[in-house]
Amino acid sequence: MNVQLEINRIDKYLRENLSNERYLHSIRVMQKAMLYAKIYNQNVEKVKITALAHDIAKEFSKEENEQYILENNLDKNLLLPENKYLIHGYVGADILEKDYHFTKEMGDAIRYHTTARDKMTMLDKIIYLADKTEDGRQYPNIETQRQEALKNINKAIILTLENSISHTKNKGKTINELSIKALTDLKNNQ
Ligand SMILES: [Fe+2]
Ligand SMILES: [Fe+2]
Repeated sequence: MNVQLEINRIDKYLRENLSNERYLHSIRVMQKAMLYAKIYNQNVEKVKITALAHDIAKEFSKEENEQYILENNLDKNLLLPENKYLIHGYVGADILEKDYHFTKEMGDAIRYHTTARDKMTMLDKIIYLADKTEDGRQYPNIETQRQEALKNINKAIILTLENSISHTKNKGKTINELSIKALTDLKNNQ
């Protein structure tokens, strides 16, 4: 994979297909992820391209998602209403693996960037946390999460998951099982 070539292709695609707001979010996630990659000694180029691309399918319409899922034989359950926040990760990862030479590891970091999962790789952790702590986001406790992210990535993810789980509960919505598994797994392995 020629990383710079693929970054240029992805950047062009994002500029042309995402709203400006979402494009700028993608750039901020990329910057935050590169910072975490340096702190935690990870391959900066791999983190950079994965972070930039993470929301590539976020603005697909319902029809576009349906068409993609059917044509590419992805799990049809992704089309259920309760999965509407995570479908873009799965569709995006599939596109990136097929058209942009992404490895399975990179694809998985995108598949699970909304929910997290158990046994997260370092790439999963960085993409998940960069998406939730990028500098444009504002929600209660985010500053604590940002500070922790510079010191202890597992603890920062635990705080972020707890925060998002209680937020989801307060709204009376169902918590994704993968997020619960991620939290349990990280707490058991601290
Ligand atoms: Fe996303
Ligand atoms: Fe995002």
